[in-house]
Amino acid sequence: MGADAPAGPRKIILDCDPGHDDAVAILLAHGNPDIELLAVTTVVGNQTLAKVTQNALSVGTIAGMTGIPFAAGCDRPLVRQVETAGDIHGETGMDGPTQPEPAIELDRRHAVDLIIETIMAHAPGTITLVPTGGLTNIAMAARKEPRIVERVREVVLMGGGYHAGNWSAVAEFNIIIDPEAAHIVFNEDWPVVMVGLDLTHQALATDEVVARIESIGTGPAKFVRELMDFFAQAYQDHQGFDFPPVHDPCAVAYVIDPTIVSTVKVPVNIELRGTLTLGMTVADFRAPAPPDCNTSVAVDLDHGRFWDLVTDALERIGDVDLASTAPMTATAR
Ligand code: BDR
Ligand code: CA
Repeated sequence: MGADAPAGPRKIILDCDPGHDDAVAILLAHGNPDIELLAVTTVVGNQTLAKVTQNALSVGTIAGMTGIPFAAGCDRPLVRQVETAGDIHGETGMDGPTQPEPAIELDRRHAVDLIIETIMAHAPGTITLVPTGGLTNIAMAARKEPRIVERVREVVLMGGGYHAGNWSAVAEFNIIIDPEAAHIVFNEDWPVVMVGLDLTHQALATDEVVARIESIGTGPAKFVRELMDFFAQAYQDHQGFDFPPVHDPCAVAYVIDPTIVSTVKVPVNIELRGTLTLGMTVADFRAPAPPDCNTSVAVDLDHGRFWDLVTDALERIGDVDLASTAPMTATAR
C-alpha cells in the first residue's frame, strides 16, 4: 500500500503513551537500522500526559537517544474525560523497573506542532506515522494542518481489533479512550494499517523470549526484562493471560518488514454512538474491498522473526552510559 518504498531507512514519528509496550516500541525503532526515528511524541493514555512523557524521556535516557526530539502533546481526549490504564501499567504508567532521572530535555514545541513541522519539512510520501496510544495528537495534527494528510506515507497504528476488545467486549483501549480522534484518523484520505488485538495478542513475551532478552546482559535489556515481569503479572491478574501481549512494537515491526505482519485490505470505521459498542473498530469483511478502501487490518504475526527484531535492536543499542547518555557500545548507527 502507499507509494513505492523510498530508498534508505523508513522515516517514522512514534506517537506514544509509555506504557511498557510503548517502551519496547521506542527501543525497537531506535535500535533497528531500517528505521529513522524522527521524533517521539507523547499523548495522554496509559497514564496522565505528565507521567507518560516522563516515561518516554526515561526510555530515551536508558537507550542514549540524544538528538531525537521528544515532545509532549494532548493531555486529554478531544471530547471525553481522561481514562487511564493503571491496572495494566501501574501508578507511573511504567511500573516495574527503577527509572533513571531523564537526562534528555523535552522539546519545547507541542507534539502536534512537531508532528506537523516534521511532515511539512520532509518530501511527500516519506514519513510514516506510528501511533501506539490514543489518536488525539494525530487527529489534531490532521485538523490543524490538513496538508499533512497527502504528505504522510501511511499511518501504521496499534489499536482496535476486528474480532475482540480489551477495554470493553468489542473496543480496544487506544480507540475507546478517544473514539472521536480515531474516527478522524480512520476517515482521512491516507492509508491506515490497523495493527489491532487480533495481531498483537500473538506477540506474547513467553518465558523463552524473556530469557533471551535477559541473556543480552545490557542495561536496556535488563530494563525490558523488568518491564516484562510487571506486565506479565498485570496481564495475568487482570486479563487472564499466561504471557503478556506486547502490542506496540508490532506496529514498528510492520514498518520495518511487512512480511512479519500479514495484512488484509478491508474497510474499517469507528463506532461513535453504540451503547455497548462505543469505540468498536467495525471491519467490513464482505469482499471485495472497494477500490477506494484506505484501511487494512493486521492478521498474522511471525512470532519468531518479530522477537528476533526486538532482541537484535536491543543488542545494537548495547550498553549506555547513563551519566552522559552517550552510547558506550552502540552499534545501531
Ligand atoms: C494498547 O493499550 C495500551 O495499554 C498499550 O500500551 C497498547 O498501546 C493495547 O490495548
Ligand atoms: Ca500504548
